[in-house]
Amino acid sequence: MEPTILQNPIADDCLTTLRDKQTRPGAFRAAGRCLSLILAAEAGKLLGTQAQEVETPLELFTGRSLAQGVVLVPILRAGLGMVDAFLELFPNAEIGHVGLERNEETAQAGSYYCKLPELLGKQVLLLDPMLATGGSLAMATDVVKAKGGENLAAIAIIAAPEGVEKMHADHSDVPLILGALDRELDERKYIRPGLGDYGDRLMGTH
Ligand code: PRP
Ligand code: URA
Repeated sequence: MEPTILQNPIADDCLTTLRDKQTRPGAFRAAGRCLSLILAAEAGKLLGTQAQEVETPLELFTGRSLAQGVVLVPILRAGLGMVDAFLELFPNAEIGHVGLERNEETAQAGSYYCKLPELLGKQVLLLDPMLATGGSLAMATDVVKAKGGENLAAIAIIAAPEGVEKMHADHSDVPLILGALDRELDERKYIRPGLGDYGDRLMGTH
């Protein structure tokens, strides 16, 4: 499945703010939230609907309403920066957490936390702004599937081709929704041109 990549001038503007190394944490958080709102609207297209009759002031109308529960699963830490925006569009979503951290030398993800609600029959949206080697997202997907998740999609702000390929190889059933697909990974497995370390820039840690 080809990833969906946003084509939206507002998203482009937010991405440029996020990439700029001069951007301070307040503006970084605001741009990440704005871009996450656009990504959330795109993810909303995956949801099933059902017929629902309502009476307008003038007549009976058969509209559509959401038929499926949504579970947001931010990958700690950086995924936390996307949660508020997704809750704007999915206010009744349940929230699970998967804690993963890349080893700075090997770039291999290690797991340190997992708490998930009941997943059966729900649309699970995995949130992680950076898809680099794909090790973290593939591991989080393994965990969510092992806990009963069947309908998954993953949302990232910036991906590298290597991460997209890893997800395609390991989890081809999981749609990817991306803000941007960048050129490559460097020798430290950072995305180029990228934006640096999303978690550090979001949280103000270095
Ligand atoms: C970053 C990012 C992803 C992961 C991507 O998290 O938020 O989770 O790296 O890299 P990968 O695709 O090569 O696995 P990090 O491990 O730095 O943890 P943090 O969110 O706590 O900063
Ligand atoms: N994690 C980040 O935050 N940035 C990268 O470029 C790669 C992994």
